[in-house]
Amino acid sequence: MKIDLTGHHAVVAGGAQGIGLAITKAFLEAGAHVLILDLNKPESTTFSEQWSNTLTTKEADITDYDQLQQIAKDQTVDHIICAAAIGSGIGGFPFWNLDPSDWNRVIEVSLMGTVNLLHAFVPALRTGDTQRKSITLLSSVAGQIGSQTDPPYSACKAAIINFAQCAAKDFAPDGIRVNCLSPGMVKTDLNRSVFEANRENTEQTYEDWAKAKIEKIAPLGRWQEPEEFGAMAAYLASEYGKNMTGQTINIDGGQVMHS
Ligand SMILES: NC(=O)c1ccc[n+]([C@@H]2O[C@H](COP(=O)([O-])OP(=O)(O)OC[C@H]3O[C@@H](n4cnc5c(N)ncnc54)[C@H](O)[C@@H]3O)[C@@H](O)[C@H]2O)c1
Repeated sequence: MKIDLTGHHAVVAGGAQGIGLAITKAFLEAGAHVLILDLNKPESTTFSEQWSNTLTTKEADITDYDQLQQIAKDQTVDHIICAAAIGSGIGGFPFWNLDPSDWNRVIEVSLMGTVNLLHAFVPALRTGDTQRKSITLLSSVAGQIGSQTDPPYSACKAAIINFAQCAAKDFAPDGIRVNCLSPGMVKTDLNRSVFEANRENTEQTYEDWAKAKIEKIAPLGRWQEPEEFGAMAAYLASEYGKNMTGQTINIDGGQVMHS
């Protein structure tokens, strides 16, 4: 089986690092053109040079709707992926450890950023051969289990699932598919920031904390790798994913199991 996205154009918000970067790589390897929208550029200039014919990076903030609309003008877009998100950086249990105002920035980036992105790119997405088009949003197991780690983050991730289902129904007549990927534990800056915010035992290292947590909550007892999300996102964008829409796909070592 070969996933072939030759000639497809993807926009990956949050594509400069972590899971978004792995998705970017998977799309490039499948032959797609990728536009990264991120606050930063990918750290590796070798990577950017290697893919200079098919990779474009624009420094952009997904909370800035005007900026996104400007970028979206005259773009060819077949696939939109939103991997950009932040947590509050504050230990979230009980929830009143946070001030209500601590929710604002998390919602602005992790929910409204996705909303802005989709609104800005809807005109481009609905142009051309819509049957080959897709949207993939990053949710989280945190959005499905009432995770206490960071309530505003969890609430955003739950909202992303619901928004994806609405969008899946809206776009279905055009053939455009909308799905969520839901990671459990992936070793990235975001994951480490959760540890920093919740560390109670200052002696514990990130590795020790993560190992204990994964063994406790994930039946398979191991980290997920960013590349697993790259592969699944490429599959969803491809011909093989043509009947997948409105779904939340948990790649989480079995943390959340649905019938
Ligand atoms: N890492 C995990 O364990 C985990 C678990 C569940 C869900 N997720 C989800 O996966 C996605 C990717 O997370 P990650 O772990 O790779 O995070 P990460 O912090 O490594 O990468 C996030 C990227 O988003 C960019 N970004 C942040 N705010 C932005 C903004 N306002 N505008 C544009 N870009 C912005 C950052 O610059 C960064 O490149 C997120 O949606 C996250 O919620 C991750």
